[in-house]
Amino acid sequence: MDKPEHHLFICGSARATGELKGVCCNKDSVALLSYTQSEIQDRMLSGVEVSMTGCLNMCNQGPVVIDYPGGHYYSKADEDLIDDILDAIEEGELCERNLIA
Ligand code: FES
Repeated sequence: MDKPEHHLFICGSARATGELKGVCCNKDSVALLSYTQSEIQDRMLSGVEVSMTGCLNMCNQGPVVIDYPGGHYYSKADEDLIDDILDAIEEGELCERNLIA
């Protein structure tokens, strides 16, 4: 597999023990992982991957999503925001909504 052009990291609130416990998890961030995977497949986006992370220490802004390698952080992620982020990726633009400055 080639290195992805965009790798989305969704906070799953995992603790060092592996336990999913925290703000983002309680706001259904884990469900966003499967939603994002499905959207990537449905849109046939190549070069876009998604993974779940542990707590990103920005809990008050969660669920948090990071788009690497750009290093863009997004707050309060939901399915609509994932759609906007993927739309922007398809158009070669930066999603501005919920972007953490
Ligand atoms: S639980 Fe997601 S940033 Fe802390």
